[in-house]
Amino acid sequence: MPAKKPDNSIKTPKGMRDLLGEEYFTYQGFFEKAAEIALYYGFKPIETPIMEREELFHSVGEHTDVVTKEMYALKAKGSNKFALRPEGTAPVMRAYIEHGMQTWPQPVMLYYGGRFFRHDNPQRGRFREFRQFGLEVIGTDKSIADAMTIKVMATVLEEVGIENIVVDINSLGDKECRTAYKRALVNYFKKHSGKLNAHEKDLLKNNPLRLLDSKNPELEKLKEDAPTSMEFLTGESKKHFKEVLEYLDALDITYQINNTLVRGLDYYSRTVFEFIEQPKEAPEGEGGDKKEEASAPLSLGGGGRYNYLGKALGAKQDVPGVGAALGVDRILMDESVKNLTPRIVKKPKVYFIQLGFEAKLKSLGVIEILRKARLPIRQSLSKDGLSAQLGTAEKLRIPWVVIMGQKEVLENCVIVRNMEDRSQTNVPIEELADYIKKVIAK
Ligand code: HAM
Repeated sequence: MPAKKPDNSIKTPKGMRDLLGEEYFTYQGFFEKAAEIALYYGFKPIETPIMEREELFHSVGEHTDVVTKEMYALKAKGSNKFALRPEGTAPVMRAYIEHGMQTWPQPVMLYYGGRFFRHDNPQRGRFREFRQFGLEVIGTDKSIADAMTIKVMATVLEEVGIENIVVDINSLGDKECRTAYKRALVNYFKKHSGKLNAHEKDLLKNNPLRLLDSKNPELEKLKEDAPTSMEFLTGESKKHFKEVLEYLDALDITYQINNTLVRGLDYYSRTVFEFIEQPKEAPEGEGGDKKEEASAPLSLGGGGRYNYLGKALGAKQDVPGVGAALGVDRILMDESVKNLTPRIVKKPKVYFIQLGFEAKLKSLGVIEILRKARLPIRQSLSKDGLSAQLGTAEKLRIPWVVIMGQKEVLENCVIVRNMEDRSQTNVPIEELADYIKKVIAK
């Protein structure tokens, strides 16, 4: 057997992919629906650059995975360093400050969608290039803003067909509560430092909160018994959190308080939350680890309040804000997501068939007449035979067919065939659009 040639062709980078055809439309349909809902609630669109000055993301946290391990840093000519954006909140806050949005009526409510980059190990639901749909409500610290952000995102998830969403929620409190809480956590984990590996010891020093979302099974029990941020919430933070929960109750949003939820980004204060899809019942007969692997819940989105981010990015005063982002790739992997067709894709009412060179020449003009009349069609101008083209129309279940052959070209007309009863009529080209509109309206 001849030796297999090495495959030297260039492929997409690891953890990134091409979006084609129907899948592309599904993404487009998702963003269209999400934007429609956000606009309804009063959010306005924003698009920030795909890359930013690298230091912008240091506000996300010097000791977070996103910044220390996963950032795509780029160096262009000159001394500035750039990074492909790993997330959208810091760029939106940068834009808020840069465009003087403090002087606009507050809060400023913005939505965005697009691609983000994290150099992580690709695995189920985790890619190096992924898409998010995000919301930010900047300029208010009112608890209703936290609840509204959660509500709008829950609505998007529901409208695209995801059921069984539970909101995991926690409050990290303000600076004062956080400092006291961090100290308590450090004391607690120090007592058990024998159980920590090198990475965890490092976290204990630099980012003790992150120990709480360690996936290490050895830490499970330790995490359960660790002090909770709730115990350290001061008056105002406690009141704020209680109000958020009351709003969620009133909105009938299912939530569970998760004391170990700290989130992977450092800018959060007070409310933090994640949208978790409850595992589906595994089909009968499936068992063991496979079952767990298939249904281990993924976070379909997350967010929280970030009252100190604005100042960290150079605002003169504190700029309270809250927001969330949905992981669109993860959501669209879910089999309960329904068919999301964007508005630009129209169901064809007519299939256009041409036969012979003369007809081909004329067909683009006829198609343009139908387009101007807003009649969605399908065609296969590169196909020749009548039966192949009729076959396609049948397969696509398109109810009307327009046929243009040599004879019709000479007579400046087309044949319109009803695919259901096979009846057909000759129609002059100048009357075609009106005729089709009439028959499809019946
Ligand atoms: P995040 O939790 O890092 O938050 O990301 C939000 C969502 O994006 C995640 O829940 C997940 O569904 C998705 N996601 C994150 N990383 C990946 C990946 N590598 N592959 C696929 N999907 C991924 C933020 O980014 C915050 N900026 C959210 C926010 C907005 N907080 C306040 N405002």
